[in-house]
Order: sequence, then structure tokens, then C-alpha cells
Amino acid sequence: MLSATKIRAQQYDFPTQKASEGRAAIHDYPAMLHYLLVDDLLASFSKKEGIVYDPFCGSGVTIVQALKSQKRVIGTDINPLALLIAETRTLNVIPEKVELVLKKFKKSIHIAPADVPPVTNIEYWFKPDVIEHLGKIRALLLKHDDLPYSKFFKTVFSQTVRSVSNNRKGEFKRFRIDKDKLAFYNPNVWETFEQTALKYSQILSIPLPFREFQLFKHDLRQSLPFSEKVDLVITSPPYGDSKTTVAYGQFSSFSMEWLRGLNPYGDEDLKLDNKMLGGNKKQCQLPPSKSLEQTLNKIKDKKRSDEVKNFFSDLFISCANIVDKLSDSPTVCFVVGNRTVSGIIILMDEIIKEFFEYFGLKHFRTFIRKINNKRMPSLNSPTNLKGDTSPTMSDEYIVIMKD
Ligand SMILES: C[S@@+](CC[C@H](N)C(=O)[O-])C[C@H]1O[C@@H](n2cnc3c(N)ncnc32)[C@H](O)[C@@H]1O
Repeated sequence: MLSATKIRAQQYDFPTQKASEGRAAIHDYPAMLHYLLVDDLLASFSKKEGIVYDPFCGSGVTIVQALKSQKRVIGTDINPLALLIAETRTLNVIPEKVELVLKKFKKSIHIAPADVPPVTNIEYWFKPDVIEHLGKIRALLLKHDDLPYSKFFKTVFSQTVRSVSNNRKGEFKRFRIDKDKLAFYNPNVWETFEQTALKYSQILSIPLPFREFQLFKHDLRQSLPFSEKVDLVITSPPYGDSKTTVAYGQFSSFSMEWLRGLNPYGDEDLKLDNKMLGGNKKQCQLPPSKSLEQTLNKIKDKKRSDEVKNFFSDLFISCANIVDKLSDSPTVCFVVGNRTVSGIIILMDEIIKEFFEYFGLKHFRTFIRKINNKRMPSLNSPTNLKGDTSPTMSDEYIVIMKD
């Protein structure tokens, strides 16, 4: 049953508007926030001179929408690819200048020697001709690292790597195209790069009016790398560890390997998933949440219950670090999903609420929306057995806490 503070909010369903529109269409990213929801939260809770913060900023939907509404904004994320995408989405670009660079690249691409970095199982994931062409574009990016819009072109390159790889399209995990289809698969690397650059330059040609932001590559389990106090937090944390939910590291790995040495936010590898919340096994205490305790007691599989505890222990530490940076009268909005583990629903909205109550904040409202637009796996494997799937997370919970 819904309580007076837990409200089904149809106005947040946005059935006809995709989450990946406008600047949010630049580069794929899993589980993006809906920009219209962020707009509404900004309009309802931001303060005139206040700072907005997204601790798990991912591809930067909160960052861009905050700048659109002329708010100063800070973002942190552990994934360097996410930060490159987020920064690119804030750029103001003149399409004619992009076209000039493309012309320059096109002239020298044939004579450019390919620079092919170490990429795991490269010949399994990329065709020989694709490897050669990606290597040539990478060589040009390395040579012209001082180029205007160099971050823009690196993001275009990253999306191109995804598009021309042998991975199935629309898939966030590593799944190769079927063998019979692969035989006829011949992506044109230069054309993909050029078309992606032209498309993104059009999107970024409508200027953002305000660009005061800071982005940090940071593990939220460590104290935060900035000194400002923040008035409004808008974020969506991972819903569980990477292994059983969204594998952000695996999603980013093709791009990160091809971008090695080029991303100003640093390099990473497949091990990134182990560094995400809940990613490494450890002895940990039960965080202070009745709902979490009850949920863990219901999960009979000890291994799965330990995984859930491990994840929430990391999330609790992250919340403590966030609370440390809150101003005197803040609002905290956490957008979460309640997934299923071994047939038991993890009431993440209740657990988050109890975490912040522990830190002295008060529950204001929880809104519930349908997430038909959000790019999330619609099925997960609650028992972790291959093929054993059940519907998950068609609802998203917007938990709002105030001081
Ligand atoms: C649901 S996604 C955020 C998506 C984002 N709201 C957007 O619109 O693109 C969760 C993010 O948490 C990040 N993350 C996971 N573990 C982290 C950690 N320990 N510290 C900081 N960020 C972490 C992931 O890299 C991922 O980008």
C-alpha cells in the first residue's frame, strides 16, 4: 500500500519522451537518469545561488540539466569514460569547426600509420580492417591532442569503437554478433566516425548558457575531493554490484582500451567492475537499516545475502561521505530501483531513506514512476542461474530527503 509520503507520480513517466534526447543522445550510457525528471527536481528544490551535486554522475545528465538552469554543479564518478562523456555533453561546439577538423583528418587518414593499443582479444571483438582504421584515427587523435574540441573527438571515437565492434548492437555487456551474421558484417569506420561527429556537433551547437562545473574521478567510498558545501543532491546510484546488475566496467572496456593514454580522466580496464560499489568481497558490518536487516534475513542463499550486504555497506559509506558535504538546509534526491535477489525484493527506496534518517535527514516524499524509457535490462537473473530470469524494476523510486 502507498503511504501519504509514497506517491505514484504519473507525471514522471514521460511515455513519449526518450531519456536519450538532446545532449543525452551523445554516447550510450547504461541507466541514465531521465533529463525531464532532473529538470523537475531542479525546479522544485534548487536554491538561487546553491550548488547542485551528483555523486554518481555517470554520463552527466544532472550536470547538463543543472547548467541549463544556470546552476553551479559538481559531479563525481569512478568511471573515467563516464566523465569524458559528461564533459563532452557540456561543450558548446561550432559545427563548421568540426567539419574543418574532419576534412583535415580525412586528408591524412590514408597515410597515417595505425596506432593499435593492447586490446583484450582484439581479433575476436574487431575485424582486421576495422582494427586498421580505428588505429589510424587513434594515431590522428594522439598526434593532434592539442586540437580544439579534442575531448569532443575522443568521445566520438569512443562511440565509434562501440558501433564498429563485433558486439551486438544495443547490448551493454560483451556479447558477440552471431557467427553467421558476422560473416556479412562490414562496418565502415571512417563513415561512422564522421557521421557521429556531425550528429554530435549539431546537438552541441545549441549553446549552454552557463558552464560552471567541476568533475572528479573519485571513489565515493573515500572522502570527497572538493571543499564546497552542496544544497541539492540529484543522483542515481548503481542498483547492486556490477556482477549481478549493470556492468559499467564491462560496458566501458572497449572504449577505455582504445582510448588508452588519451582520456584526461585516466585509464581503466576490465577490473573497473571490481572497484564499483559492492565489487570486492570483504567482511563488513550491517549498515543501520531495519529494512535491509529484514531483507537479508529473508535471502536464504548466504552467498547472495552477503553480496547484497557488501553492496549496501559500500553505499552506506558513500552516503556518509555525501552527508559530510551538505549545506545547512539541503535536499537529497536519490533515484533508485528495487531489484529482486533470490526471489526477494530489495527495498532500496526504504533502505536509502533509513540511511539518510540515520544521518539526521527527514523523509519528504518518495515518488514512483514507470521506467519504460530508461535503458535498463528488463530482466535480471535473481537466482544467478543462467536462463533463470524474472521481471525487474519497471518502477523507479525518487526518494527525497530534507533537513
Ligand atoms: C546508475 S549510474 C549513474 C547514471 C547517471 N545518473 C547518468 O545519468 O548517466 C551509477 C554510476 O555509479 C558509478 N559508480 C559505481 N561505483 C562507484 C564508486 N565506488 N564511486 C563512484 N561512482 C561509482 C558508476 O560508474 C555509474 O556511472
